[in-house]
Amino acid sequence: MAGYRERQERAERSEGAERAERGGPFAPAPVLRDRADAVAYAAYRMPATFEAVTAALRELAARLPGWAPTAHLDMGGGTGAAPWAAAEVWPGRDRRTVVVDRAGPALDLGRELATAGGLGGQVEWRQGRLGATAEGAPELPGADLVTVSYVLGELPEPARDAVVDAAAAAVTRATRDAGERAATGAVVLVEPGTPEGYRRIRDARDRLLGAGLRVLAPCPHGAECPIEVGADWCHFAARVSRSALHRRVKGGVLPYEDEKFAYVAAATPGPDAGPAPGRIVRRPLLRKGQVLLDLCTPEGGLRRTTVSKRRGQEYRAARDSEWGAPWPPHPSPSPPSPPDYPSAAHPGQDVQRTDAARDPAAPAERADDAE
Ligand SMILES: C[S@@+](CC[C@H](N)C(=O)[O-])C[C@H]1O[C@@H](n2cnc3c(N)ncnc32)[C@H](O)[C@@H]1O
Repeated sequence: MAGYRERQERAERSEGAERAERGGPFAPAPVLRDRADAVAYAAYRMPATFEAVTAALRELAARLPGWAPTAHLDMGGGTGAAPWAAAEVWPGRDRRTVVVDRAGPALDLGRELATAGGLGGQVEWRQGRLGATAEGAPELPGADLVTVSYVLGELPEPARDAVVDAAAAAVTRATRDAGERAATGAVVLVEPGTPEGYRRIRDARDRLLGAGLRVLAPCPHGAECPIEVGADWCHFAARVSRSALHRRVKGGVLPYEDEKFAYVAAATPGPDAGPAPGRIVRRPLLRKGQVLLDLCTPEGGLRRTTVSKRRGQEYRAARDSEWGAPWPPHPSPSPPSPPDYPSAAHPGQDVQRTDAARDPAAPAERADDAE
């Protein structure tokens, strides 16, 4: 897949150069410019973007029990990872999906994959350039679920803001038009789990809040993100199984990889929606008779809590807990463990659960990212 990498690098270089020259916001041509690019993307990246979007949608679904979207808009959907993820989280539902993307070859391949996999009839594939000025922007349908996954990073800031605003407007419009039938609408944004991806999500989260939506995940609050920009970044990991083809394509040796991603899920305010009681923001650290959990709290802060063996059921829950999960998993009447100390970044923190070797093909990580 060196060809794909080369094309992508070339496209990114020419995009930057052309943008600087023109002072304009858009690349001259889509990165996924032909069939070969789209096929390479589907083999190389789509398994990971699918798992990341699925993980984000699962967290949204956990905050909205009993709710399922009836109309899905996937902005910059490319080969269609998000419709597949929605089908995984809300299977067997009658749902209309519209995928909008500027790259025709990606949409064509997405349509073929969806048709072959049984999603076809439900999905409409529309070519259009998002983030353009009012005259150039495609008309977007209202939807009670809008996804924007791995797209914001391909857009310059004004277009990025316009896309986030359009996503919020699409759910607000749909829920207003549908009245009682669809009182809830949600926007889910996913970006790579890098410091830059986190910053884009953080900015977008502020815009969603400004548009009147309520953040449901990962944050357990709607206050300012307590992470100090530059010191750390909020992100999570989704396990991706690698087929033999996927391993060959990526030159990796492990039968899986962990896709690091940052996300935010926000919904129209409603009685059924509530954020998590707290969120585990780093891989739990297992110690002898203790589990150390780094939490983002409903009060809008970060803290580390130590759950000792003496706490029985809570300890067992902590031992089974996962990075990215809500905490406590089932809020109980017993008082929670006291905090040890406020936690921002923990440089030099031990790596835990070292049951897997590092994959040489994996990207650079925060000290505690490796499993
Ligand atoms: C990295 S891919 C992500 C595809 C898909 N959302 C996923 O998660 O696998 C980025 C997608 O955004 C699309 N894109 C980038 N800029 C766009 C724009 N201005 N309007 C519409 N689509 C755009 C690209 O064509 C590409 O399909």
